[in-house]
Amino acid sequence: MNRRRRVYEGKAKVLYEGPEPGTLIQHFKDDATAFNAKKHELIDGKGVLNNRISEVIFQRLNEIGVPTHFIKRINMREQLIREVEIIPLEVVVRNIAAGSIATRLGLEEGTMLPRSVIEFYYKDDKLNDPMVSEEHITAFGWAAPAEIEEIMSLALRINDFLIGLFLGIGIRLVDFKIEFGRIWENDTMRIVLADEISPDSCRLWDIESNEKLDKDRFRRDLGGLLEAYQEVAKRLGVLNESRPPKGAGPVLVASNGAGKAK
Ligand code: TMP
Repeated sequence: MNRRRRVYEGKAKVLYEGPEPGTLIQHFKDDATAFNAKKHELIDGKGVLNNRISEVIFQRLNEIGVPTHFIKRINMREQLIREVEIIPLEVVVRNIAAGSIATRLGLEEGTMLPRSVIEFYYKDDKLNDPMVSEEHITAFGWAAPAEIEEIMSLALRINDFLIGLFLGIGIRLVDFKIEFGRIWENDTMRIVLADEISPDSCRLWDIESNEKLDKDRFRRDLGGLLEAYQEVAKRLGVLNESRPPKGAGPVLVASNGAGKAK
């Protein structure tokens, strides 16, 4: 497996060369990091859960016509994806105040925002991913005005879809971070959703209890991260409930199994 050429290694994933030109293999690691990797831990089984959660979300987005890099899951930790040119922006969509917007604007966590808000951060660990405006993005050429428009329209569609998906399983979608890339098909360029959507990159609160079912459990030392991710996977219908939650690692059912919303 390690004979494959490693194209890129990030904090939570590795990208390997894929079997065909224009494809890559996205491998989900167990590493949990926060605060630009100042905090780091290995959480046995996290990568497996994120692979499955992100798979089901990307598959459904593909089905509703949101273009994504996702082709298919290959195994417990890996998926086949299309190679894209990553746009160096972290696009955050927020529905409810939490995390950095709560701090920055002095809002109480849990306050409903007047409307969904999109923010851009420049992807650069050395600079701590600073927040940037559309002016910065176009001035420095990270994306063209028409690309920003496309990204914002896709981000809002993804938000609407995810709000509904999670509401249906008793989860409030507080906010999330997504990334986009460019794909060229003959002479035309398309913007597609890339990276992952998982409890690592979303804030997910249980509707009834407000319990956090996301990476804030790790960021804020609340414990129970794996159990929270398992709960999300279970509600999405990708985790076999009849097996013990720990030990040999999560046991997953087939991708066309129960819970598929079609
Ligand atoms: P924030 O409130 O810390 O700015 O985070 C907003 C959302 O983006 C939240 O769902 C967590 C996610 N996020 C990432 O996926 N990666 C990051 O590096 C950061 C800072 C946030």
